[in-house]
Amino acid sequence: MVLIARSVFAQQRRAFSSTASTAYKVAVLGAAGGIGQPLSLLLKLNNKVTDLSLYDLRGAPGVAADVSHVPTNSTVTGYLAENDGLKKTLTGADVILIPAGIPRKPGMTRDDLFNTNASIVRDLAKAAAEHAPKAFVLVIANPVNSTVPIVSEVYKARGVYDPKRLFGVTTLDVLRASRFISQVQSTDPKAEPVTVVGGHSGHTIVPLLSQSNHADLAGETRDALVNRIQFGGDEVVKAKDGAGSATLSMAQAAARFTDSLLTSLDGTPVTEPTYVDSPLFKSEGIEFFASKVTLGPAGAETIHPLGKLNDYEVKLIETAKADLKKNIAKGIKFVSENP
Ligand code: 2OP
Repeated sequence: MVLIARSVFAQQRRAFSSTASTAYKVAVLGAAGGIGQPLSLLLKLNNKVTDLSLYDLRGAPGVAADVSHVPTNSTVTGYLAENDGLKKTLTGADVILIPAGIPRKPGMTRDDLFNTNASIVRDLAKAAAEHAPKAFVLVIANPVNSTVPIVSEVYKARGVYDPKRLFGVTTLDVLRASRFISQVQSTDPKAEPVTVVGGHSGHTIVPLLSQSNHADLAGETRDALVNRIQFGGDEVVKAKDGAGSATLSMAQAAARFTDSLLTSLDGTPVTEPTYVDSPLFKSEGIEFFASKVTLGPAGAETIHPLGKLNDYEVKLIETAKADLKKNIAKGIKFVSENP
């Protein structure tokens, strides 16, 4: 019996390893923070990640030691700034996640974080551009609408910008939309895909409910749902009462997007909404926009148009575009004035 059980186990292992993917080094910058810690744990649980490099100014070696005991085969290393820690974290990285920065307190918008987080993201982007210029960069640090343009400007200045490799993670808006619509409809959130486009802040977050399973949602129910999706982050900020913003759900969202990217790099394209350098509204001076993007070995391979919108959504998009234009310009101006 024991032998049979062992041989079945060995077969399962072989079957698993024959479908095992390429090796991927994933770096988390800001790994000891509120998002960084659960994100590191979720990445340790992802078998596509073979080398997990955790960086923070404090605490990263401890997080790495802790997470390294989780029984998956990836190696986990934690680095501080000393001894070229950032360079070691980044060298050879395929994917770089940036959750570093400070979170919101009650009453703050994501834009209120700009003054602190802009320079943190700029400096990490400089290091990434130098030590891992070909890596895919996934920006979580807020305000995402501005920090993604900051990374692009830093990369452009160094001649290493590839627009297909830079992403603002907007997956939490997608997860919230699925969950909140499922609460209104008493359904399973897994069966409630909602495309969310625009950006990752307040009115720039535009759920396309007319393309969901509930195109007929209207009136106050629809307005309340859209408002909850746009300002869902505020619920968490308020409930945490000064202790920060969404960390656990954000980590889940970023881990899901990372998995989609790694799956796509391995040859199975995944389509997810994400905030990218986009042709959709460039003619109106809006360089970045979130929409459905098909991921592949080169990164953002196909940026999909928004599709058919109803009049209500057309208005939401107009409002989003006005805010986005300012947010993007702010990021670009910051880098030109503080290179
Ligand atoms: C949120 O949407 C933290 O930006 C994150 O809650």
